[in-house]
Amino acid sequence: MSHVVVFGNQKGGVGKSTLSVLYAHWLADVHRQCVCVIDLDTQANTSKTLRRFESGVVAADLFEEGLIGEIASDAACGLALVAGGKRLADIELARPEAVIPAFRRNVARVARRFDTVVIDTPPALGLRMSAALIAATAVVCPIELEEYSIDGVTDMLKTIFGVRQRYNPRLQLAGIVLNRFNPHSVRQKAAMQQLVDSYREFVIPARISTRSAIPEALASGLPVWDLPKSSAREASAELKALFGLLQQRMDSAGVGASMTGVKA
Ligand SMILES: Nc1ncnc2c1ncn2[C@@H]1O[C@H](COP(=O)(O)OP(=O)(O)OP(=O)(O)O)[C@@H](O)[C@H]1O
Ligand SMILES: [Mg+2]
Repeated sequence: MSHVVVFGNQKGGVGKSTLSVLYAHWLADVHRQCVCVIDLDTQANTSKTLRRFESGVVAADLFEEGLIGEIASDAACGLALVAGGKRLADIELARPEAVIPAFRRNVARVARRFDTVVIDTPPALGLRMSAALIAATAVVCPIELEEYSIDGVTDMLKTIFGVRQRYNPRLQLAGIVLNRFNPHSVRQKAAMQQLVDSYREFVIPARISTRSAIPEALASGLPVWDLPKSSAREASAELKALFGLLQQRMDSAGVGASMTGVKA
């Protein structure tokens, strides 16, 4: 069965789009998978980075029945983009019961044609985030460690737990990913301790440091491992280690699926 993997955190700027794009490239490059990336953000950062893989289908159309045709994956590269954009703002105003079942069915249709569907979400716990979690098999929660990040993670995990309990029992928390990790920061160390004390079983034991090669690669539309620069090497090694661990957790049934550690 295909994985439908959501990158979600209601906090902005934590690396949802960056990791969505690079994870999709990693699956296509390293595992030769056919991957469809759905961008649910009006800012459409992911869509700009992946514009050369445009499928012709836009994400707003996934919220209605019968609007999308078949999405073909480009045989050469394995990636297809379902682009985000301003029209997605209207979805937030729709009745959930009118749009979420259509989105779920459309994503299931897309998943039948691809090995993995990656969904990038906007920085809000709104209707699009709920729709993504209801349609997903796994969710990855990127965070940046700072003073209040534990509060944000708790809210996000409660949302994931609520969706799993009420609407989508197959939803698995693949893990919390530490992005822009700085081992020398005292503040980050304190936040890390708090996070591990509360959610040890969900924290992926791989960290992504702040690396200038990451935004550079995205700006040029390339995965960071294709950037002809030595500084891209460390970034690539960290990212590949992270994606390998995430994939292991998603592939081994049941691991990471339990959310009993989430405090109400
Ligand atoms: N590890 C990193 N090293 C350096 N820059 C990074 C790293 N991770 C993300 N960035 C940069 O930080 C910015 C924010 O990242 P990104 O857009 O992926 O966050 P986001 O969670 O998708 O934000 P939003 O909530 O606004 O959609 C981008 O410019 C991105 O290139
Ligand atoms: Mg984003």
